Amino acid sequence: MANENLNYEFCDKLICDFEKVIKKPITKKSSVYYTGIDLGTACIVLAVLDENYKPVAGAYRYADVVKDGMVVDYIGAINIVKELKQEIEEKLDTELIYGAVAIPPGTDVLDGGAVKNVIQAAGFELTNVLDEPNAANNVLKIKDGAVVDIGGGTTGISILKNGKVVYIADEPTGGTHFSLVISGAYNMAFSEAELYKRDPKNNKELLIVLKPVVEKISSIINEHIKGHDIESISLVGGTACLSGIEKIIEKQTGIITHKPQNPMFVTPLGIAMGCTQKIL
Ligand SMILES: Nc1ncnc2c1ncn2[C@@H]1O[C@H](COP(=O)(O)OP(=O)(O)OP(=O)(O)O)[C@@H](O)[C@H]1O
Ligand SMILES: [Mg+2]
Repeated sequence: MANENLNYEFCDKLICDFEKVIKKPITKKSSVYYTGIDLGTACIVLAVLDENYKPVAGAYRYADVVKDGMVVDYIGAINIVKELKQEIEEKLDTELIYGAVAIPPGTDVLDGGAVKNVIQAAGFELTNVLDEPNAANNVLKIKDGAVVDIGGGTTGISILKNGKVVYIADEPTGGTHFSLVISGAYNMAFSEAELYKRDPKNNKELLIVLKPVVEKISSIINEHIKGHDIESISLVGGTACLSGIEKIIEKQTGIITHKPQNPMFVTPLGIAMGCTQKIL
């Protein structure tokens, strides 16, 4: 790719390594472990890096404990983080001490520290609270352009200029809406529609049914990038996994749109990259 701004080499390698260690953790001892905890609306992801910030383990679980960035099931969230933590600790034969989290743009005041409390109650020493766009860009390393995080509950739009986030917004349309549309169109239960959607085999056929929702997301993007000079859009978040979604967005926005190999793990890894040994 001629555009150095859209070089996903670092990101793709990191994610590829992460996908491998989710299946087979690296048990060679590290002097310290850094954990990024992504408490999402649809999915909770733990990403563990070693002393050199290289992936060594990871685990994730689909859960309904957070809605649009707010913790709605506090005890449920703590239990899942505890379980995932323990699962990895057993595999690595170590204790995970340091953790970092991220909160979506704009939820800082509303959240009232719930996300932080979940992490601490699950047994982590909290070392950093990042905002999601900066976490994602720890991995994408984009200088100029828009990062669009299409998660489960929301779509987050951030605009970067010279490597700094200059604009952020979060709108309540995401993968959950995709599943609702599938559920209606195919007469399936929501949970069935969720699983059907995540199966890559079904992506092509689903894109036709889902086109209007993707167009809605595209118009949300257009709304927010209006007036900014955007040369490229990078998609992250689990919903960006849908194959072909980038083409519809590119057509509707008129801006070159790319995504890394597995967009779902960009933010969790970026949170882990922001983890330190300095307890807050
Ligand atoms: N292969 C796939 N195709 C389509 N959608 C997918 C795929 N894999 C995961 N998803 C969807 O991605 C969403 C989860 O993504 P992600 O983990 O980024 O969201 P989240 O962080 O939990 O949500 P939010 O950021 O809105 O709080 C779910 O809606 C899930 O159905
Ligand atoms: Mg998310």
